[in-house]
Amino acid sequence: MSEDAGAGTGVPGSAATQDVRPVTLPHMRPGDAPAPPPCGGAQDPAVHHWPVDHLDGLSFDPLLHRLLREEPVALVRMRFGEGHAWLVTRYHLVKEVTSDARFSRALTVGRPVTGMTPHNVAPAQGIGRTDAPDHTRLRRLVAQAFNRRRTAALRADTERTAERLVDTMMRRGAPADLAEHVTGPLPEHVIGRLLGVPAADLGRLQEWRGVILSTDHTPAESSAVKADIAAYFRELAAHRLAHPEDDLFSELSAAQDRGELSRPELISLTVMIVLNALDQVRNQSTTMVYALLTHPGQLAALRADPGLLPSAVEELLRFIPQRNGVGMPRIATEDVRVGDVTIRAGDAVYVSYLAANRDPGVFEDPDRLDLTRDGAPNLAFGHGPHYCLGAALTRMQCLTILSTLLRKAPELRLAVPPEQVRWRRGSINRGPRTLPLAW
Ligand code: HEM
Repeated sequence: MSEDAGAGTGVPGSAATQDVRPVTLPHMRPGDAPAPPPCGGAQDPAVHHWPVDHLDGLSFDPLLHRLLREEPVALVRMRFGEGHAWLVTRYHLVKEVTSDARFSRALTVGRPVTGMTPHNVAPAQGIGRTDAPDHTRLRRLVAQAFNRRRTAALRADTERTAERLVDTMMRRGAPADLAEHVTGPLPEHVIGRLLGVPAADLGRLQEWRGVILSTDHTPAESSAVKADIAAYFRELAAHRLAHPEDDLFSELSAAQDRGELSRPELISLTVMIVLNALDQVRNQSTTMVYALLTHPGQLAALRADPGLLPSAVEELLRFIPQRNGVGMPRIATEDVRVGDVTIRAGDAVYVSYLAANRDPGVFEDPDRLDLTRDGAPNLAFGHGPHYCLGAALTRMQCLTILSTLLRKAPELRLAVPPEQVRWRRGSINRGPRTLPLAW
């Protein structure tokens, strides 16, 4: 297999998007439609209907690829919710919007903004849907609990556990599924330790995670699961208050007892951490291994110089399209000029960190995986006050998984042709369902 072949460099081959209405005005592309109110006035551009098709492998969403180059602040409509929203794709504009307090997360509560899931994945009291000062208070509480001592202890434990998991997988013999043996159990173990969730309960959390992050279930199903999760953590909080341990959940439960955060805030924060920790690390690290094994020239460079590993992880974070669609929207609190467009007070705005990571104005030859790249930081973990709280934890786990595999399996390879790897469907997050390996 040649370098960058088969696995896809991420350049879209076909436009998977159809636009909403058949009316075409002179300034529009065929198929584009004029924007209806309430998102602005007569000068608004066409609305792109974005079905957010499920993409396999490393392929990159064709609409994002096109808008990034042709229309960096565009209007989109997705499958669910009402009306349409702005979508900002260019690196510097994404940074502008996400660090501008005039774009509020709190105002999304109760607004059925167009989106790709039938319900809001993030709960109303969740950290992602608050603004300062509530947001700052919640961040501070988590930051205190994620202290240096705890992170250092977790690193040593992660290294030991990765070592054990890889050894067990190799002892059982090839072919073996990396997700089943390593990239699934490692984040489960790590988040279990960090939060203090008993190992026996992790299976239940995994089932709930599957429903919440799915794009194909009803709002009633998701509400039922959210209620189950809330009940579970309410019980655990009561238990930890009575029997505190050295973990994040005990600390947050004590903070709740002191009145520093509300019960719904505690539950939503914990759910957000658990869902991200279980799903994202597994997907991201498994896809990293797939990307390396399908770019043999890059893999060889990494094997020749293991010192490249930290920058390789950053480049993989930049390159891998780890989700479908976009994350949570923001609402403009006043008219704001973004690029060539005036976003009106009350308009909903999404940014795409995925698109920003492929901005040709910032990254040379952006659709190419290049582990020696040394330039602007990637935006995989977001930007501004809502920057991912799990970034350091994720980097640490991905780096540990890659370095352990590279060291222990010098002949590591896919056990099936790349096109036979099966990818997840019907979920927000992308990644291989299984990754059969040989060594
Ligand atoms: C590959 C792994 C991950 C990726 C790519 C990722 C990416 C992101 C992104 C893009 C955001 C949102 C930025 C925004 O709202 O503008 C975010 C927020 C967040 N992430 Fe992650 N994440 C990952 C793993 C994790 C893990 C492991 C945890 C928990 C241990 C976590 C916890 C959170 C939390 C709590 C927020 C909300 C922060 C806030 O709103 O202030 N993430 N993440």
